[in-house]
Amino acid sequence: MELNMDKEAKTTYPINDLAKKRWSPRAFLDQPVEKEKLISLFEAARWSASGGNEQPWRFIVGVRPDDTWQKVFSTLNEGNQEWNQHVPVLIMAIGNKISSWDGAISPVYQYDTGQSVAHLSIEAMNQGLHVHQMGGFSYEKAVELFNIPETFQPLTIIGAGYIGNPEILPEKLKQRELLERIRKDLKEIIFSGKFGNTSPIIE
Ligand SMILES: Cc1cc2nc3c(=O)[nH]c(=O)nc-3n(C[C@H](O)[C@H](O)[C@H](O)COP(=O)(O)O)c2cc1C
Repeated sequence: MELNMDKEAKTTYPINDLAKKRWSPRAFLDQPVEKEKLISLFEAARWSASGGNEQPWRFIVGVRPDDTWQKVFSTLNEGNQEWNQHVPVLIMAIGNKISSWDGAISPVYQYDTGQSVAHLSIEAMNQGLHVHQMGGFSYEKAVELFNIPETFQPLTIIGAGYIGNPEILPEKLKQRELLERIRKDLKEIIFSGKFGNTSPIIE
């Protein structure tokens, strides 16, 4: 199905094609994801970098209509549940808070887990899939439903699947699906000398 949607990043400088085409849809096809494609997402996550190679990431994967999918879905807030009914795969990303180096809370476990999900997101594009990360869910309910140990922290839920037609969404969400994607200017985020001073690498 060819959708008349221009979601590609309007980059000022060239970037790789998968990153350029990545975006977070809410309309997914009601179509299962092949197991071998799904596994590649986690393989990419597994090979991302982490502080001290601690690999704090863990993933709970629900494949619709299995019991895990139902449980992950039930933790989502109302706004997210509205569009996730059609999403074939729901993944909960969980971070190990504790560093094995000193037994203290790692200052980078969330950073590391987020980075593994970034790798997963790009691999999804490579497999012809899209993902949509969500922070809007109940951490408490997740901990309870999945018996997550105290030393682990649920961080995000990630919907994954084939991109669908925005027509399946309620009107309000359909409009959001068609919005132009925007970003801060590079001048606002790359500094040199001191914080806030735009770097001269930006013309
Ligand atoms: C940590 C995180 C939490 C997010 N939480 C939600 C959410 O609860 N619901 C939602 O619809 N989108 C959520 N998003 C998606 C963002 O809104 C989206 O990534 C952002 O608007 C940029 O759009 P793009 O991914 O299409 O480039 C989240 C994204 C991230 C990375």
